[in-house]
Amino acid sequence: MKKIYMDYAATSFPKPNCVIDAVVQYMQNNGTNSNRGNYADAYKTASVIYETRKKICKMFDLSEGEHVVFTQNITYALNMILKGLLKKGDHVLVSSMEHNAVMRPLVQLQKEGVSFSRIPCTTKGELLVEEMEPLLQNNTKAVVLTAASNVCGTMMPLKEVGKVCKKHNLIFIVDSAQIAGIFPISMEEMHIDVLAFTGHKGLLGPQGIGGFLMREHIANVMKPLITGGTGSLSDSEEVPEFLPDKFEAGTLNIPGIYGLHASLSYLEEVGMEIIQQKEEERLSQLLEGLRTIDGIIIFGKETTKDRVSVVSIQTDWMDEGELAFVLDEQYGIMTRVGMHCAPNAHKTLGSFPRGTLRFSIGYQTTKEEIEMVIEALKKIKETQSIM
Ligand code: ALA
Repeated sequence: MKKIYMDYAATSFPKPNCVIDAVVQYMQNNGTNSNRGNYADAYKTASVIYETRKKICKMFDLSEGEHVVFTQNITYALNMILKGLLKKGDHVLVSSMEHNAVMRPLVQLQKEGVSFSRIPCTTKGELLVEEMEPLLQNNTKAVVLTAASNVCGTMMPLKEVGKVCKKHNLIFIVDSAQIAGIFPISMEEMHIDVLAFTGHKGLLGPQGIGGFLMREHIANVMKPLITGGTGSLSDSEEVPEFLPDKFEAGTLNIPGIYGLHASLSYLEEVGMEIIQQKEEERLSQLLEGLRTIDGIIIFGKETTKDRVSVVSIQTDWMDEGELAFVLDEQYGIMTRVGMHCAPNAHKTLGSFPRGTLRFSIGYQTTKEEIEMVIEALKKIKETQSIM
């Protein structure tokens, strides 16, 4: 049975061959640490890491130096950002669509005196920007916002929110998990101060590599969460104050960085707009196909406008868990059901506590695969009507 991967929002698969080759080549032929060894191969590793930082800055349009910190994933990045910046008495705004990568650290910080308010969104997940200013308090320090919902794909108006942040001198923190590598993000134009990214979704790199970019004024005030050896200032037991060493203690995931370097080169070569256009075509095909089947509720926006290729559904003819099982077992179609680590997003959309079945499309999803998904759903529905 042909397998149809429809879970790109969880991780992209398959990875481009150049990514696999880069990881294997590094592990077979170099394998050195960086900042620690005094030989050519270690310098080569250091230069690939530096080039990867530069590529990341280019991708997110940060012109203020290579202020990129690598972490193992975006959850680590968001924890480092929130716990390194917020302290007792601070207040932050979040959207009502956030993932637990933002909400769990914030709820943890709440117990230490940090408070937060949720900016309401419509039942399609659209942020009500006009509701932001009334929620501001004297102690509001930052706005933390997902760039696009991992449940229904609705994109957030980053530029508008950035303007409000600039006006009120708030730190603007963006979770780019579902959008990076597919839609362009400009930290300059959108007034973003800190941007967290993960390497293994739209950036098409391996798992275990992510990080964040930040502006100079943030780097100066953010506390490092993890400290240790950096290979620099080794005569001192103090944490270095300069970047990236202030936030990068211990050996990095260097195979992951080699893979990410290759995937960023691949994205530069193919062009994000080509990937975006292809995904949009498949998304439109999926939305149209789903609409031809009775008893399917589609969450989020009706059209592909301001929407990444994530589609959540419920049906009135089958439990979503059972549907995912049948899709996988009988048709080889891989999906994700439940809360998608974003309970409040489901509350906003009206799909809580039942949850949804989520299809997510990627750069390799084909027209035929979408046709097969629609056909499979039609057949499953027919068997339900007979029973
Ligand atoms: N946050 C990822 C998802 O939505 C893992 O599936």
